[in-house]
Amino acid sequence: MSRVTYLPEAEEVADDRAAGPEGEDDAGLEDDLASWYDEEEGWSRDGTSRRAPKPLPRARRAAPPDDAQGVEGLAEPAADAESFHTTYQPSRHEKTWLFTSLRAFYELNLITDVLASVKGGKEASVYRCRANPATTDGATFVAAKVYRPRSLRSLRNDKIYKEGRPVLTGEGRAVKKSDSRILRALGKKTEFGQQVAHSSWLLYEYTTLRTLHAAGGAVPAPFGVSENAILMGYEGDEHAAAPTLSAVSLDPSEARSLFTVTLRNVELLLAHGFVHGDLSAYNILYWNGRITLIDFPQVVNCEGNPHARAILERDVTRVCDYFARQGVQTGPPARLARRLWEGAGLPQAAD
Ligand SMILES: Nc1ncnc2c1ncn2[C@@H]1O[C@H](COP(=O)(O)OP(=O)(O)O)[C@@H](O)[C@H]1O
Ligand SMILES: [Mg+2]
Repeated sequence: MSRVTYLPEAEEVADDRAAGPEGEDDAGLEDDLASWYDEEEGWSRDGTSRRAPKPLPRARRAAPPDDAQGVEGLAEPAADAESFHTTYQPSRHEKTWLFTSLRAFYELNLITDVLASVKGGKEASVYRCRANPATTDGATFVAAKVYRPRSLRSLRNDKIYKEGRPVLTGEGRAVKKSDSRILRALGKKTEFGQQVAHSSWLLYEYTTLRTLHAAGGAVPAPFGVSENAILMGYEGDEHAAAPTLSAVSLDPSEARSLFTVTLRNVELLLAHGFVHGDLSAYNILYWNGRITLIDFPQVVNCEGNPHARAILERDVTRVCDYFARQGVQTGPPARLARRLWEGAGLPQAAD
């Protein structure tokens, strides 16, 4: 079932991670997770839940802002996929999938319409939605990144990224040793366990956006998360989404300053303990002379993952490759990566 969880502040997430096995148990969490997903029935091949949709539970951490209520002109959330009408015309299966993935955002009055498909990918599709400005900091549009149902995703080899990275629950906190049912399900890879692992993947994307956005990073504003979708700031206009840097040619002076901005964001991420893990000109958007870093589900934990240092070097190399083509003298990527790593106070790696 769709569920928007208003996540705790980044600091709280960090505290919870530190809590370890002795940390306080979160009463009711297991029930909440179980209500997301039916171990017996699960998702069908076309990505639709085989159960009839239940009304959404209310967000537990915080209610939607008061001014979200009673805003004129808001569409009534559709009751089922059949009555789900959007300006964008999805195919039949896509419609059911969009409805189950986005209905939480409708119910919380964050969006009022799905306007266009921005890009369909192997792991996720991104849609331009009409935002409710009252609940999205005045935005006209927002981007919904809807992950493909687990059964249909072409899983990238994600093991290397997940090493040393605790599984995140629906509330954005790390699974603890006391969450025995979840740990058992994860270990045995039951349907429920796989669903938790799937959600953890996109919760990392969402919590990273929150952390970086709060720290002033060049990332989309995060507006909501359900177990299958992320709602965030949209780069672009009513005609087209922002291109990725890979499709843009820059003049050398603009390239130099955007190279610096990119490295500053890599630094910011390192300062919060993470490496992007898939950074390149394909995951940086360019709009009105500004760049925005996107696509964070695979973020790597600097301290817990022995490959983090090497993954940073790969990210930096790809960024340097692009900017070198735009005329920037980047210097050797390996040296740059080392400076960034050590500048963040991280221990020198053996590799
Ligand atoms: N916030 C956004 N605003 C506008 N377009 C976006 C936004 N986020 C993603 N996109 C578009 O969707 C594409 C896919 O998003 P991304 O997060 O990179 O997912 P993936 O590469 O895993 O499919 C991007 O290359 C970009 O074209
Ligand atoms: Mg991408």
